[in-house]
Amino acid sequence: MNLFYVTTPIYYVNARPHLGHAYTTVVADVLNRFHRMCGRETYFLTGTDEHGDKVVQAAKREGLSPLVYADQISDLFKALWPELDIEYDHFIRTTHPAHMKVVKEVLQKIYDAEDIYFSEYEGAYCFGCERFYTDRELVDGRCPDHKTVPQVIKESNYFFRMSRYQDWLIDYINTHPDFIRPERYKNEVLAFLREPLEDLCISRPKSRLQWGIALPFDDQYVTYVWFDALLNYVSALGYPDGEPLKKFWPAVQHLIAKDILKPHGIYWPIMLKAAGIPLFQHLNVHGYWNVDESKMSKSIGNVVEPLELKSQYGTDTFRYFLMREMVFGLDSSFSEKALVQRINSDLANDLGNLFSRSLTMVHKYFKGIVPKGDAAPESNLDLNIKSEAGKAVQEYKKAMEDLAFHKALMAIWEFINHINKYIDLTAPWELAKRKAQNQELQTVLYNIVEGLRIIAGLIYPIMPRTSLLMNEHLGMSSPQTFQKLDDLIVWGKTRAGTELPKTITLFPRIDEDKLKSLNQDAIMSNETSPSPKPQISMDMFQKMDLRVATVIHAEPVPRSKKLLKLKVNVGKEQTVVAGIAENYQPEDLIGKQVVIVANLKPAKLMGIMSHGMVLTASDGSTFRLVTVDGPSEPGTPLA
Ligand code: ME8
Repeated sequence: MNLFYVTTPIYYVNARPHLGHAYTTVVADVLNRFHRMCGRETYFLTGTDEHGDKVVQAAKREGLSPLVYADQISDLFKALWPELDIEYDHFIRTTHPAHMKVVKEVLQKIYDAEDIYFSEYEGAYCFGCERFYTDRELVDGRCPDHKTVPQVIKESNYFFRMSRYQDWLIDYINTHPDFIRPERYKNEVLAFLREPLEDLCISRPKSRLQWGIALPFDDQYVTYVWFDALLNYVSALGYPDGEPLKKFWPAVQHLIAKDILKPHGIYWPIMLKAAGIPLFQHLNVHGYWNVDESKMSKSIGNVVEPLELKSQYGTDTFRYFLMREMVFGLDSSFSEKALVQRINSDLANDLGNLFSRSLTMVHKYFKGIVPKGDAAPESNLDLNIKSEAGKAVQEYKKAMEDLAFHKALMAIWEFINHINKYIDLTAPWELAKRKAQNQELQTVLYNIVEGLRIIAGLIYPIMPRTSLLMNEHLGMSSPQTFQKLDDLIVWGKTRAGTELPKTITLFPRIDEDKLKSLNQDAIMSNETSPSPKPQISMDMFQKMDLRVATVIHAEPVPRSKKLLKLKVNVGKEQTVVAGIAENYQPEDLIGKQVVIVANLKPAKLMGIMSHGMVLTASDGSTFRLVTVDGPSEPGTPLA
């Protein structure tokens, strides 16, 4: 099949993008680039899900209208993706009129086919999830997600006759074993389908919710947000007769995490069937990124911000870590320490060292000109490195097709190890000592450069920048020559006689001590350790600019138990990071007058620039803010 269409979930606009959203979208980008490398025509869709009560509530908290609020958050997602080198083809928003029109059309079609009916219903409704729960879905009578007791509500609503399609869906899944993959999620859906499937309530009365798409057959109701959202996958391609739809549907691969398996594994295929649209090819389900074994959540304060990591460590390294660390389908735990270790060992040590070591030899022995590969007859070692390259490409291809990204990378790294061994065994530095062996030296160095060309091509979907940089330094200037998997399978594409630019460091090592200094928790304990302090002169003391500051805003610092980010007025606005989160709630600080060292050199703490330091009294475990004994003008100096 020469067409490939990949989708991510469309993300709710009730929260800022985090590591989980970044993961799914990076996976989509990696797959998209890989399938392009395989010569397929591709289409990549992402976007935002903007209707429903969650968005209304979030907008209300910010004092904004739902649309203005949705605009703001949707823009955050849109702005993030290019930062992570994600190249999508289309960004859909469910508030776009073209999408709303499609939702109405499909609803009308299903209504006309009598798969939608009107009925009164009484059931347990979770407002957080915006849906009714059956008794067996509740855990100890509570919503499994929100842990709240749902409210029993009685309402007249429209229902989608899903029950009619239950046997058909079971049969379809059984006869298409990789329709939902990995298998554990297929089994989960089948287990769910062992119980009678209830019809789906697809409307919400306008008396309760206005922020949605009005039903085409009853304007007193809006569409249930999931029925609206799932249709994005076809509306984005111009359903019913848009050219992209004709071309790319149903060559579609959906990507989601396990949290939204039920709507995608059950509602969506049945909706498609009822609307007479062919089914998607695969539903690909991944696990959760947790932080220190617990789920990322705003209330725990451990939400990982992808932009922070990207600016701290770089885009390619971040993408590499995500793809290497998580086994697609299983949960994974995020830690900055693991990220740094992977950068240092896999990237700086293995790949980076091999690259600079190899190019240095080409410069040293052949003035930077790629020597001839067939200068000497092939030895067993030469034959072996060629066959290892072929093996690596085949394993990589199979793993990428199976979404086993960690295995694809392991295949590349195994090949990196083989080249390193090849260098050790052929010992080019020994060959260089003997003039007679110059021809062998030529062949060996050619093979090393050729191996690097293959590696540079294979990493392209995961680390596009590094791939380009490596290729540039291997004398491959045109992307067409290295972004084709077919060309990576063939040995000998590097041209002898090419002049290579000077080598570079691909991945600078990260000082792990620097990581410690980023961890404010460590800094805090150093600050409070009792050490005898030297006497200072009055002159020295007077160099300190101590001032009164009024706290204007306070919020927790993601991934830190101790830090708060404060915005203070000290005559002008300044951001200060303070280690007081265990003693003060952000909301208690607003309006408080504190004392800050205003001329402290700015320092980055957990990725946030802190301009100054808040003074506290502390016994090492409790921190009490130093304040002034009566209202003072912000910025007043302490004398
Ligand atoms: O569910 N680990 O939107 P959403 C890995 N609007 N991935 C995660 C994650 C985590 N901890 N947290 C979130 C919705 N994700 C609906 C979708 S589609 C028609 C409508 C990723 O903003 C993962 O892809 O809650 C998950 O499925 C998705 O974000 C949920 O995003």
